[in-house]
Amino acid sequence: MAVDTVSMEKIVSLCRRRGFVFPSSEIYGGLGSTYDYGHYGVLLKNNVKARWFEAMILERDDIVALDSAVILHPRVWEASGHVEGFSDPLVDCRTCKLRFRADKLEDSQCGRKPSKQPGEYKECDLTEPRQFNLMFETTVGAVQEAGSRAYLRPETAQGIFINFKNVLQLARRRPPFGIAQVGKSFRNEITPGNFLFRVREFEQMEMEYFVPPAESEQWYRYWIDERLAWYLRHGLRRSRLRVREHGPEERSHYSQGTSDIEYLYPIGWSELEGVANRGDFDLTRHTEFSSTKLEYVGQDGERYVPHVIEPAVSVERIIVALLVDAYDEEVVGERERTVLRFHPHVAPVTAAILPLIAKDDGMVSKARSLYEELRKRHSVEYDDNGAIGRRYRRQDEIGTPWAFTVDEQTLADDTVTVRDRDSLAQERLPLASVRDWLDDALEREWQTPQPD
Ligand code: GAP
Repeated sequence: MAVDTVSMEKIVSLCRRRGFVFPSSEIYGGLGSTYDYGHYGVLLKNNVKARWFEAMILERDDIVALDSAVILHPRVWEASGHVEGFSDPLVDCRTCKLRFRADKLEDSQCGRKPSKQPGEYKECDLTEPRQFNLMFETTVGAVQEAGSRAYLRPETAQGIFINFKNVLQLARRRPPFGIAQVGKSFRNEITPGNFLFRVREFEQMEMEYFVPPAESEQWYRYWIDERLAWYLRHGLRRSRLRVREHGPEERSHYSQGTSDIEYLYPIGWSELEGVANRGDFDLTRHTEFSSTKLEYVGQDGERYVPHVIEPAVSVERIIVALLVDAYDEEVVGERERTVLRFHPHVAPVTAAILPLIAKDDGMVSKARSLYEELRKRHSVEYDDNGAIGRRYRRQDEIGTPWAFTVDEQTLADDTVTVRDRDSLAQERLPLASVRDWLDDALEREWQTPQPD
């Protein structure tokens, strides 16, 4: 679907050029759909996780953190339904030897004739669909034998359910309360692609919110609203976000209700985050499979199996949405610039400190001491490499909201210029007030300058 947005190719090229994300194992020819994060990619990713952690845990009293193992007891995945049901229908083409998801043929290209979908070209010879489990298998221990088989987790959620009792007892919580976790998940996707959007190794941020059964619908609606508000707070355009409720036929086996928060990616409207009402499915199944009762027992003897509301998203899908939303090109003074208009709270670098003349000892000394002062509290970058215009362009491309420039006037009156990435406005500030100015700027409410 053609949409009025930046192409994925431009995003991939910027990410590579500026060292956000590289294809993984490149010197060995690459390994399809796996990526490595460079310096700015790591900073961006860390900011996304920090903002999520703040909103989920630091700013609330009812949610606690967990970091469970990636490899869990194999019975966990039997109880969860993943061994039996976590699969996609797959077809092979005997002619071009490519594999496709049988339910997504319309989104795939024929290996011989890319303008057609698989099955449409005269040479296509597709097999019957068969189910393909998406979990990566591994073995635990030195000997590969029956019973040593294990899986890399395909979601972080199950690590939370199997710790329900520990948290209930040790963190002394009563429903409604939540357990949140950030960590890697792995899925052997048949058709990964679209850059980071669908990858085989990704970082999930999931929160399981345990509620009294009668309150589940109310909390399901609450978390849809909360999560949508989080995206708006971090600068995504309202017109590019929507909530789509799944029909009963589309829901996962555990779900009593699911809504996707969708973003208008270059590939069209697609799932950014899912919010599901999982009912009592998981706690009941783990009780059955482990023979450990997972329920809430109140002091007055009240007992029930809590229902679970789950907002779940990957850092990767957020990063693609942030990059797409922030990307802009404009002509300034007859020169084109590319700029990432990130919210200051997610931008990899908050401010750049630039001495106008790299060889001027006075400017370097003042710029370095400003840099040393600011780096204690913020992600800042010192850059003295090249003409000042080129340095501004470089910072624009990585989305740095502000640049402080030390010039001749600084040597005379101890003031610096601050340049705003979006408006390009420049103002002069006393050097001594830069720290407070930056703190205030970060406190201010921020609205994307991108047209909604
Ligand atoms: N615990 C529920 C669960 O895992 P899901 O809809 O399969 O539900 C949750 O995944 C979120 O994880 C998705 O909304 C998406 O943000 C992200 N996600 C899933 N598969 C992904 C993949 N292959 N690559 C990147 N992100 C993925």
